[in-house]
Amino acid sequence: SRAQKLELVSQHIRNVPDFPIEGIVFKDICPILKEPKALAAVIDLFEEHVRKNHPHTELIVGLDARGFLFGPLLAQRLGIGFVLVRKKGKLPGPTTSVAYTLEYATAEVEIQVDAVDPGQKVLIIDDLLATGGTLWAACELMKKQKAQVLGCLVVIELKDLCGAEKLPFPVFSLLQC
Ligand code: PRP
Ligand code: ADE
Repeated sequence: SRAQKLELVSQHIRNVPDFPIEGIVFKDICPILKEPKALAAVIDLFEEHVRKNHPHTELIVGLDARGFLFGPLLAQRLGIGFVLVRKKGKLPGPTTSVAYTLEYATAEVEIQVDAVDPGQKVLIIDDLLATGGTLWAACELMKKQKAQVLGCLVVIELKDLCGAEKLPFPVFSLLQC
C-alpha cells in the first residue's frame, strides 16, 4: 500500500547531526539506494503521483547531484526523457545559467540550451527541498527556456524552511520533516 511504501522510504533516510556544518541535520538518502525495495517504493510513489496529476508530462528535469539518482528511473517508468541541470562548468555549451543561495552555500546551475524546447511540459525532481534556492534556480532556468513547468517533485521537504513558498509551481513531497 501507499502507507507501507512511505514507511519503507522513511525508514531508509538517515539523520546526520552537524553535517556538513554545525546546526544542520543532514538527511542522508544513501540507505534508500542501498535497499532496492525502498528505491522501488520512491519511484512507485512518484510514478503514481505523475500519472494521476500530470499525465501529459513530456520531460523530467533532474538536479545535480541527488536528483540524478531518482530522475532517470522515474523518466524510464513514465517512458519519457530525462535532462540534467548541473552545477556550473560541467556541461559542454551552449548553456545558460542561474545563480542561487542554498542552506549552507551559494552556487550556480546550468543547462544546455537544447535540452528543453519552448512550451515543453516538464517536472523538476530533486531529493530534498530545504530553503528552495536550488529548485528556484531550476525554475528560473526553465523560464529562460520557455518550458512549461507542471511542478516539482522531492523525496523530502524540510517544512520549517518554507522553501515551497519561494517556488512559482506546486511541490509534491513524499515525506515532510
Ligand atoms: C542539496 C539537495 C538539494 C539542495 C536543497 O544539494 O540535494 O539539491 O541541497 O537545498 P535548498 O532547497 O536550500 O536549495 P547540494 O547543493 O548539497 O548538492 P549535491 O546534491 O551535489 O550534494
Ligand atoms: N540540502 C540542504 N539541506 C539539506 C539537509 N538538511 N539534508 C540533506 N541535504 C540538504
